[in-house]
This record gives sequence, structure tokens and C-alpha cells, in this order.
Amino acid sequence: MPLKKPQEVIIKRYALVTAGRHIVQYGKSCLIIAGKHFLHSEDADILAASLTLRDVGYEIEEYAGGEPEVNVIDRITARYCGEKIDSVIGVGGGSVLDTAKAVSGMLANEGGIERYLEFPDMRVMQNGPLPFIAIPTTAGTGAEATKNAVVRHAEKCYKKSFCDERLTAKCVIIDASLYMSASADVTAYSGMDALTQLIEAFTSRRADEQTDEYCRQGFKHIRYLATAYSDPGNISAREETAIAAFKSGIAISNCGVGAVHALASPIGAHTGLPHGLICGILIPHVMKVNREHAIEKYAEIGRLLTGNSDVNDETMADEAIAAVKSLARSLKIPQTFRSERLKNLAATIVGECINGGSMLSNPAKYDEKFWMKLVTAVSR
Ligand SMILES: [Fe+2]
Repeated sequence: MPLKKPQEVIIKRYALVTAGRHIVQYGKSCLIIAGKHFLHSEDADILAASLTLRDVGYEIEEYAGGEPEVNVIDRITARYCGEKIDSVIGVGGGSVLDTAKAVSGMLANEGGIERYLEFPDMRVMQNGPLPFIAIPTTAGTGAEATKNAVVRHAEKCYKKSFCDERLTAKCVIIDASLYMSASADVTAYSGMDALTQLIEAFTSRRADEQTDEYCRQGFKHIRYLATAYSDPGNISAREETAIAAFKSGIAISNCGVGAVHALASPIGAHTGLPHGLICGILIPHVMKVNREHAIEKYAEIGRLLTGNSDVNDETMADEAIAAVKSLARSLKIPQTFRSERLKNLAATIVGECINGGSMLSNPAKYDEKFWMKLVTAVSR
């Protein structure tokens, strides 16, 4: 089966200058959802000029920050539902893109988003979404390539997926110049998210030759993460990590993730910690317990990350774990959460994800007690 992925992908430095040429295909009026940082930069003027040149009108919605929230998505949808909007453009990190993606779906459908989230009696979108155009500015979640938006409900303390193949972006514009101002923490956290997604997709029970190929390419690109962190002005390294994140998004959209992402959703919902930081802390621990269940894949990860190819599988699988640990250390990611609160929540966290799709895609099947022990250990 062909992979689900965005229709049109432009990977080109300074592609924002000609964004209007691509966006005009989806209609003459669009809604731009973007963060404050972008909207107050020269890049916003460049995008506006490019749209005006093609006679595309636009509304602008400033994203207030934080994770995509149920009430924020409903509020934006209500504000624009009576207006003529042909497409939705998201410019920003994963949270902005997921919010824009969710709004593109909700503007074409009835009711609030909560009814469409992945609960047992979820509603399926009756109408296809408005075309969604993704212009990412951080290299992490791969939201520009995925078919879902991860949405949080702060009061009800959950994070759920709004998932539908039709939500996949119609057009993705990856312009490395837009990634240059990402802070050190954002670069580190989002990069560890992309790396975790590549590892979990590559070792997923649902992986196939096609998703494996995207992951193999992604591992080669993510090797530039340490450089993007230590030399933030290095546009080549920024571009490499941007491509790695995009490939990780295609892979997870088609074969799922694993235990790290299964645990990361409830941990994020209960603690509010950044998703990429949670992934960065968990991944070495989860690799260790998954190692013997996917030894060949882990060995290949070791070879791809280190460039070392002539050692046996057992050794290379250990090298994979060592390489990820060492990268996390160099990005100043802590080894544990050091959170008494999280330790006390271990049973709740595991209870919320043990039967979910992400845990079922994990290469090793462990019971509730096992994961509780792991969460307790990483809380220290
Ligand atoms: Fe992720």
C-alpha cells in the first residue's frame, strides 16, 4: 500500500518568498495561524507579500503558546466559521501546526473538537477538512507530515489524538532559514522527539519496508542534531534536522510509535512538561528494555547513528543505546524526571496508556507492573 504523506513538499532555503505560488492552488482566502515570534518578524512580511502577489487574501490568528488545547481550537473555529476561508496555514512548531491542522478539520464540520477525539464513541468527520498548509519552524514532532493532531484538555487532564487521514497537510514548505532562531532548549527537545519517533517507528510492530526506508534516511539526517544545537547558525545542520523530523512524521503516521510515546501523552497531560523533553528522558530507558526484542533493528540504528558497520549485532545494539545516551547528555537532557509527583502518578500514567495503540506497537510486550516500575525508576 502506498504511504500516506503530504501531496506537495517543498524543501528549499528561503522558499517562504514564493509560498504564495503554492498556496494559491488551494483558494484565494486563507487563515494563517502562527506564533507571536513569527508574526513579529520580517518573515511574516515576506509571507504576506508572497500571498498578496498571488492575490490571496488572509486572516491572521496569533497563537498564544503552549500545547494545542480543546478550548483554544474551539474558540478559533467559532471565530472564523462564518467567514470565507479556503485553506488554513500553520506556521510554527508542532503545537501551532497541530492547532492549525485541527482547525482545518473543525471549520468544515459541526460541533466541538472533543467529540472527534480518540475515545471509544468518537465521531468521524462528515466533511473533509479545508486544505492544510504546513510551514514548520522547529525540527521535531513531524506534525507537518502526520495525519493527526495531539490535543490537550487541561482541566480534564488528558491528551488525545484527533486523527483522520484527510487531515494530512496538502502542502509542506520546509525552509531552513525559518528554523534558525529556535532556542537551544527547543532545538534539543524537538530534536530528541524526532529521534525518538524514528527509533519507535523503525522498531514498531507495524513497520514495513517503506516506513523502514524513511527511518533509515531520517537517522542519517538526525546525525546533525548535535551540530544544530552547538552551532545554531549552521543552516545546513538546521536543514538536516528539519528533514529528519519530516521523515519521522511520515514514518509514525504510517506505522505508529511505541512505549515512549504511549507514556509521554499521560506524562505530558499530568505534568505539562514539553513533549520532546519527556521523550528525551524516556528513550534511553525504553531502548534498554526493548533491546532484546528488536536486536537486528537496534543494531542497524547503531550502525546508522555511528557510521560504524563492521561489528556484530549485539555490540551495535549497545552502541545504539550509548549513542542516544551520549547525544541526550550533550543536549543537556536530564537522565530522570526527579519528580516525586510523577512517581506518585505512576499507576495512573500506566493505566491510561497500557491498552492504547502506541503501547501495542512497541516491540516488547510488558505488563502494567513492569511499566509502573520503569516510570517509578525514571521519576527519581
Ligand atoms: Fe513525538
